[in-house]
Amino acid sequence: MKRVLFVCLGNICRSPSADGVFSAMVAEQGLSHQIAVDSAGTAAYHVGNSPDKRSTAAAKKRGYDLSVLRARQAVEADFLEFDYILAMDHENLSNLQRIKPDNSNSHLGLFLDFTQINEDEVPDPYYGGDAGFEHVLDLVESASAGLLAHIKREL
Ligand code: 4NP
Repeated sequence: MKRVLFVCLGNICRSPSADGVFSAMVAEQGLSHQIAVDSAGTAAYHVGNSPDKRSTAAAKKRGYDLSVLRARQAVEADFLEFDYILAMDHENLSNLQRIKPDNSNSHLGLFLDFTQINEDEVPDPYYGGDAGFEHVLDLVESASAGLLAHIKREL
């Protein structure tokens, strides 16, 4: 079993998008019993909330259902449970590095390390327009494919 946690700031836009897209790819390949997926935010502002309506709508147009997801905050215990903890941007990554316990063996890094696209951060779409949400999905789809290929080699 491999366990993957996607992390952004609020857990209502980028990491739920990654959760929905990557989970769909895992299911499509019949690997849901071998790869577990979750998402979280470094901040607590939106704990318990559904994903942002704009993220849910953009994902739905591409066939992904984010409606069942609810926001939670990343916690220290996540570092003992998840094999991969993947941050959407450098700020998320440094906040996670601060709470990572010494006895964690999790791979902690940037999600976009798994794409060939020449960008290292999934930009926060919260204060922008619809194009930002489409860009999030483009990046997330590419990195999800790369991540899944990587994890399949470890199974
Ligand atoms: P996310 O986007 O980190 O991709 O979920 C954000 C959501 C909410 C806020 C910032 C970013 N906020 O400031 O409330």
